[in-house]
Parts: sequence; structure tokens; C-alpha cells
Amino acid sequence: MRRSGGGRRAAYPPGGRAVTATEPVDLAVADLHPALGDPALTSMNFLNEVSERYPAAVSLAAGRPYEEFFDLAAVHRHLDTFHRHLVDDLGHRPEQARRLLLQYGRTKGIVHHLIARNLAVDEGITVDGEDIVVTVGCQEAMFLVLRALRAGPTDVLLAVAPTYVGLTGAARLVDLPVWPVAGGSSGIDLADLAAQVRRARAAGLRPRACYLMPDFANPSGVSIDTAHRRRLLDLAGQEDLLLLEDNPYGLFHVDDGPRPPTLKALDTGRRVVYLGSFAKTVLPGARVGYVVADQRVAGPDGRVGPFADQLAMIKSMVTVNTSPIAQAVIGGRLLEHGCSLVAANTRERSAYTRNLRHLVAGLARRFPPGADGAAAVRWTVPAGGFFVVVTVPFPVDDALLDRSARDHGVLWTPMAHFYDDTAPVHALRLSVSAVTPEQIDVGLDRLAALITDERARRAG
Ligand SMILES: Cc1ncc(COP(=O)(O)O)c(C=O)c1O
Repeated sequence: MRRSGGGRRAAYPPGGRAVTATEPVDLAVADLHPALGDPALTSMNFLNEVSERYPAAVSLAAGRPYEEFFDLAAVHRHLDTFHRHLVDDLGHRPEQARRLLLQYGRTKGIVHHLIARNLAVDEGITVDGEDIVVTVGCQEAMFLVLRALRAGPTDVLLAVAPTYVGLTGAARLVDLPVWPVAGGSSGIDLADLAAQVRRARAAGLRPRACYLMPDFANPSGVSIDTAHRRRLLDLAGQEDLLLLEDNPYGLFHVDDGPRPPTLKALDTGRRVVYLGSFAKTVLPGARVGYVVADQRVAGPDGRVGPFADQLAMIKSMVTVNTSPIAQAVIGGRLLEHGCSLVAANTRERSAYTRNLRHLVAGLARRFPPGADGAAAVRWTVPAGGFFVVVTVPFPVDDALLDRSARDHGVLWTPMAHFYDDTAPVHALRLSVSAVTPEQIDVGLDRLAALITDERARRAG
């Protein structure tokens, strides 16, 4: 089981200004919440700080969406489109519509009906808008769910390893230990999942849910096939386990065939809490995400309502409500594309597909089979998403990243950041989302030089 705190990285300060011994100090981090200073919380700051220190470096680290498609004028248009929708389609009077956009608002959000339509159109998911909470990014959705599920000290969360560091950090903040479940080439090792559930229960613990990304996971890039999704749902039913399905990258598939159904689309037993993000499919700056939580919860008065209502109760004490202006921008974009994000993202999908293919081909050219030691450098070939994992013949840590940025001008993410323990990891994550093919070429040349140097350094 994972211990809290510790870890491989210098955890504090998280990329901020170092405090000198002579400076007066009012608070000690040791007296604050134990999550503060934990590597899971400092990881993102550390990576940002490295890229700020080396602004000229090519970044194959950031999982941000491609900025060339950002359009300020479209933001205004989306806002207007949603405003017209309120008046023309929903029959709001102008002052009502103005209030809805500019005043404090409904905790569960104001674009839930459009999200429900989007899920029906793109994913074949049938959901009542009342089962949706619109959140400040998917990150808040994860936090609300974990906060609600963590009822006592024996509760634990299972998560497919390697996993998104934002999930691990959110779990730390609510004192919920994360138990890794093996991912492997199928995306989730079901035998290991069953074994971890049993092990936790035998130890007197209560596994509350298993978090996973069935589509083009961050960071592994691995996807789960449809038959395995069905087996996972069966197992979740047998073990009485909730599944937290996070799906920010599912639309960005390389091949033109049909996408596998989401777990939520296959979920007939309300086993799946579905986490959504508009950061990659509309605009990260809007900071809008959502959670579908249709599980029925009996309240203390015996009345039954959706889990979404409990999450909204927490939200009302965290962010009150998600900015209606930001929601309106998302709503307008949805309306302009018949609520289909598939339709809204054709340009984006082809750019990410082009980049992913370019990166994989570039790796193959730089590390050809049979070349000296080439077998020692391997990489994944994901069917979509933003991320490729490169395995190298030496451990990859933050010191190597720093050297890579300083001496070779290329940034990437050590895979160690996505594991919740301190074992050395011989792999790094490359992201294709925020770069051009030309930048990929430069970045890969520099990465190849780093790998050559590092191998020589270790050999000599
Ligand atoms: C797997 C995963 N979940 C959630 C998020 C956070 O999404 P949001 O920006 O909507 O908070 C990210 C962001 O990169 C992610 O990769």
C-alpha cells in the first residue's frame, strides 16, 4: 500500500521561490495538510517550472491542446449563441437570460441539458440532465467524487497504474489512499483488480471505486477493447465496485472506424461515474467539465435522489457554481455543432492524428531496428490521444529532465510522475498535442541526442 508523502522528487518548495533560512517564517508545511509537499501535488508545478526556466526548449511534455485553433472571436459568438438559445429555445425573458448568465446560479450548472444531448449524440449514453453536475474542469469533478466517497479511514481508491497525477493529488487532499491496479497491454488487468479488491477487504479496508481511462489513457496511451470493457463491468458488478471513467481524449482516435462504446454507454447497473472535460474538445481556458452521477442515494429522510445531488452539495461549499459565462461559451459551441463534439473537432482530430503518426514514424527513423542498442529504446503506438511512452535503457528522473532541457533543449515528462511509489522508471512520456510536425522533428532529434549522451555517460 502506498504511504502518504515521501517520493522521488524534491517536494517542497514546488517550483516557487526558495525560502532562505534567515527569512522569518510564520507557518511550517509540516503543520499544514499532509498532502502539501507531497510529490503528487507538486508534480505539475515542477514541470511548469522546468519549462519556464528553459523557454527555448521544444516541449513534448505539455498535454495542452493545440493553440493554433484558439479563436477569441468565437468565444463571443458562442456566448451569443447560448444567450439566443435561452431566449428563443427555452423561452426565457431577456432579463431572465441576463440573470442566468451574470448572476450566481444553479449549483449543478446551466448547460446540463446540452451535455446530456452531447452524450446521446456522440456516445450513445442516455442520461437525465439532473444526474449531471457541471464542474470547474474535470479536476473539480474528480475532487467532488473522491470527497464524497471517502467516508472513513478504511476507505481506499483503486486506480489503474500508471495514472493521471491530478487524480492522485485529489485523492491525497481527501486523505484517500490510492491502490495501484496493473494496467498492462489490455488497459486493466482484471485478475489484478479482483486480487486487489480481495486483498483490501481482507485487510479490513473498503475499496470505494476504481479509477481508469478506457480511451487513450494519460499517460500510457493504452485503450481497452470492447470485450474487455464488458468483462470489467461484469467484475465491477460481482465485486460491488464503482468505476470512475475519465474520458478527456476519447474523440481523438487515429483510425476512421467506430470508436468503442464508453463504459458508461455499456453500464446497465449504474456502476459507472462518468467524468468529462471540455478542456481538450472545446477550450481549456473555460475550465468547464462535468460528472454524470446517476447512482441512487438514499438520504437520511429516506428520500432517494441522484449521487449528483450529493456532489452538488459538496460543490456548493467548494466553488458555489461553475462560472455561467464559461458554461455559456461551452454551450454555444455545442449548439453550433448540433451538440456533437465529434463534429466540432474534425480539425483538431486530424491535427492530433497527423502529429501522432509523425511522432511514431520519427521515433522509428531515429531508433531503427537492428541499430546499435535500438532494441533498448521502445515506444508505444497508441490508437489515438495525445501520448506516446518511450522506454529507454536507463532510469528517467527529474535530474535527467533538467539536463535534457538545459543541454539539449527538449522537454518531456518522466513516467515516474505517474506512479505512486519511488521505484525507478525507465520511461518517459511524449505529448503530441501542442506542437507542430516541425517541432516534433526538432524535439526528437534532441531526444535522440540526449539518449546517446546518457548511454555514453553511463557506459563510460
Ligand atoms: C486524464 C485527465 N483527466 C482530467 C484532466 C483534467 O481536465 P480539466 O482540465 O477539465 O480539469 C486531464 C488534464 O490533462 C487529464 O489528462
